[in-house]
Amino acid sequence: MKLVAGTFAIALVACGLSSTGALAQRSLYDRLGGQPAITAVVDDFVANVAADNRINKFFAKTNIPNLKRNLVDQICQATGGPCTYTGRDMKTAHKGMGITDADFNALVEDLQKSLNKFKVPDKEQGELLSILGSLKPQIVGQ
Ligand code: HEM
Repeated sequence: MKLVAGTFAIALVACGLSSTGALAQRSLYDRLGGQPAITAVVDDFVANVAADNRINKFFAKTNIPNLKRNLVDQICQATGGPCTYTGRDMKTAHKGMGITDADFNALVEDLQKSLNKFKVPDKEQGELLSILGSLKPQIVGQ
């Protein structure tokens, strides 16, 4: 009985540590709020892009529901979630569009607006933007 109680106490401490991040860090996917939160952010983000006269011309012929699904899968997978991105690679998807630094920054601004609207904390925003920012060389200037 003593052993059982002792083990239980250790398990409790381990859980406490892990939930404060001292032992294990939850995935960015979980910290963002999982699939429902990512879907809500992507919906709002794509609406921002559609209303953004700096860059919406790029999306004139795009199948928007398809784009949203691909974005959700891409973000889910890249942040450690249980999804598989099945869209094109970033180089192929943006080939020949002539996307500039300014276009890229405008799109990131539209995303940040949505992240702020849904009150995603600075730390998680920074992690997500750094993951997506690392794709920039494959997207801009081709
Ligand atoms: C980190 C930044 C970006 C990410 C993560 C991203 C991601 C994606 C993804 C996942 C797709 C779908 C690929 C597919 O259909 O197979 C896509 C398509 C597209 N992206 Fe991006 N993108 C980024 C930046 C940009 C920028 C800056 C522009 C232009 C201002 C842009 C314009 C487009 C367009 C127009 C499509 C649709 C192409 C089509 O209709 O076939 N993207 N992007």
